[in-house]
This record gives sequence, C-alpha cells and structure tokens, in this order.
Amino acid sequence: MLGPPGAGKGTQAARMALHYGVPPISTGAMFRDMAAQETDLGRALQGYLDRGEYVPDDIVIRAVEARTAEPDCKDGFLLDGFPRTISQAQTLEALLAGRKQQLTGVLVFKAPIEVLVQRFSGRRVCPVDGSTYHIETQPPLRPDVCDLCGTPLVSRPDDAPDVVQHRLEVYIEKTAPLRDYYRARGLLHKINAAPDPDTVFAQVIAVLDGLK
Ligand code: AP5
Repeated sequence: MLGPPGAGKGTQAARMALHYGVPPISTGAMFRDMAAQETDLGRALQGYLDRGEYVPDDIVIRAVEARTAEPDCKDGFLLDGFPRTISQAQTLEALLAGRKQQLTGVLVFKAPIEVLVQRFSGRRVCPVDGSTYHIETQPPLRPDVCDLCGTPLVSRPDDAPDVVQHRLEVYIEKTAPLRDYYRARGLLHKINAAPDPDTVFAQVIAVLDGLK
C-alpha cells in the first residue's frame, strides 16, 4: 500500500487483513513499537519518527526481512508503508524472488491535501494497543478513551503541523516516484481514498478480487 501520510492506509489495512486473513505489516507501527524500547536503536528510531524523516533503508529492510520470514507470512502478507523508496522496492523484489513469492499488486491511495489535513488533525491513537480513531469520522464509543482497553487516547507526535508538512515533502520526494516504478511493471492500482471508509474499502475489494 502506497499513499501519503493520513490517506487511510492503516485503516484499510486492518479491514483487508480481516477480510482476506493475511497478516498486515505496517513498518510505521513496527518502528513506533521499537522506539518505545529503551535501547540505542529505539532512541535513534524515535528521532526519525519525531522529525518526520525516513528511517534508513538498511534498518527498514532488516526489519521487513525478519518479520516476513515469520510463519504467519508463509502464504502471503500485506505491506503497509513499505516499500517507500526505489531502493526498498528493489530489495523487496529480490527478497520475494528468493522465497518464490511475488507481489500481487500495489494500491496507491490518493486524496486531496485538505482531506489529509483534516485526517491528521483529528487522528487520535491508543498508546497501548495502537488502535486509531478520528474525533469526527471514527470517534471512540466514549470520548477520548480506547474502545479496546480503556486507555486515554493521544495525538501522534508526528501529526504536529510542522512535522506533517515535512512528512508530506519527504513522501513527494522519495515515495511518489514509486508510482512510476510500479506502473511500469503493470502492478499499480489507484484507490480514491477521499470518501468514507466503507466506500474506500469497496474499491479495495473490487481491485483485489480482480487480481486473485
Ligand atoms: P507510518 O505510520 O507508515 O505513517 P504514514 O505512511 O505517514 O501514514 P499514517 O499512519 O500517517 O496514515 P495512514 O495512511 O495509515 O492513515 P490512517 O489510516 O491512520 O510511518 C510513520 C513513520 O515511520 C514515517 O514517517 C517514517 O519515519 C517511518 N517509516 C515507516 N515506514 C518506513 C519505510 N518503509 N521507510 C522509512 N521510514 C519508514 O488514517 C488517518 C486518520 O484518518 C485516522 O484518524 C483515521 O481514523 C481517519 N480515516 C482513515 N480513513 C478514513 C476515511 N476513509 N474517511 C474518514 N476518515 C478516515
């Protein structure tokens, strides 16, 4: 899954994982978990996340290699937020070839900037289980409290306006070129990410069912 920050990739990944019974692998979520650990790597990762910069490719690739080698990925997996650079895409190609697996398709989520801004500004997350809400479009059952574990919800530090601006710039510079990369390979499918989650999910299902 490709797409700018806030487009709704994580929201749709959770639905796709349930619908198709495949593990969703979000590199962003993996790095947030690792950053919470009191290690040198955790502290370094926290710095990249807080600044809205990409984690270096070698760290990203090691993490994805290890995660996708776990038994639950044997019959396939869903990648949310990886690859994000041409170099990561080339490494993924080699990794999959070595495992006799192949990429089924690449979904690129698109939404106007004003929609992205509205999503960042209202996003709230649970600091314990990582579940995501939106104060207007996907509110929790009780205000500001996680439905699953009752923990008070927080804003993601990288949703601060200056960091968001930088994340969007980094996306345009480093990740947007992947659209041409995958279009040239006949793998790219556009998803209009602007409507409500059910409407977006219907598009996703239509594309993926067509690829099976
Ligand atoms: P990551 O966590 O992947 O962040 P991102 O790609 O910037 O995406 P977001 O999580 O911000 O948004 P989303 O598209 O998942 O939207 P969501 O579903 O939450 O990465 C974070 C950081 O990790 C990066 O900045 C980088 O530092 C590092 N990193 C990760 N992968 C890396 C890699 N491969 N290489 C290098 N560095 C890497 O939705 C947003 C909000 O909108 C929510 O509140 C949601 O409830 C709401 N919403 C969602 N869909 C809808 C809808 N259809 N209608 C109304 N509201 C909606």
